[in-house]
Amino acid sequence: MSFIDLIKTRRNTKSFKPDPISMDQLYEWLEAGTLAPNHRMTEPWEVLIVGDETRQKLNHKTNFHQAPLVLAVLSKDGRHDFETKENALATACFIQNFQLAAWAEEGVCTFWSSMGSSERNRDILGVPDNYDVIGLFGVGYPVEHVEPKTRIPIQQKVKQLP
Ligand SMILES: Cc1cc2nc3c(=O)[nH]c(=O)nc-3n(C[C@H](O)[C@H](O)[C@H](O)COP(=O)(O)O)c2cc1C
Repeated sequence: MSFIDLIKTRRNTKSFKPDPISMDQLYEWLEAGTLAPNHRMTEPWEVLIVGDETRQKLNHKTNFHQAPLVLAVLSKDGRHDFETKENALATACFIQNFQLAAWAEEGVCTFWSSMGSSERNRDILGVPDNYDVIGLFGVGYPVEHVEPKTRIPIQQKVKQLP
């Protein structure tokens, strides 16, 4: 598959097969994540592998769509607000590298949930005050491939400046 087709076919997935994810492969995709651009090499990302006990406490309404694996991705605060923002942006790049690596190498998809950032869930996850929870991720093989959602054509988002 071409790289563009890979990007076009990656999907946020809401139906997973129970098949487990190999930890060796997981680390390979996360390692790809670490090659993300990050200003001043802050490498602000941290990953929590969420075990069953913690997962049950999170009490997600769909239980992460039964994904066989749940991860939390955190971003460390910077020395000032601007660096904190840049770190979160770098962590989003980390996540995209990870998602594309998992999809390219093994046809594995993710479900991105924002619910990790609530006070209650931060406590359950044991997140230190100087970290943001950028997302909780169900990770697994999709039951079926869903067609990409259409986007606004890029021509409508690009402006030529004089
Ligand atoms: C910062 C961020 C937070 C997200 N949070 C959620 C979420 O809480 N629940 C959810 O269903 N999807 C969430 N998503 C996934 C988007 O809904 C999904 O990417 C979007 O619908 C486009 O679909 P696609 O990724 O399959 O192209 C999130 C995505 C991002 C980038």
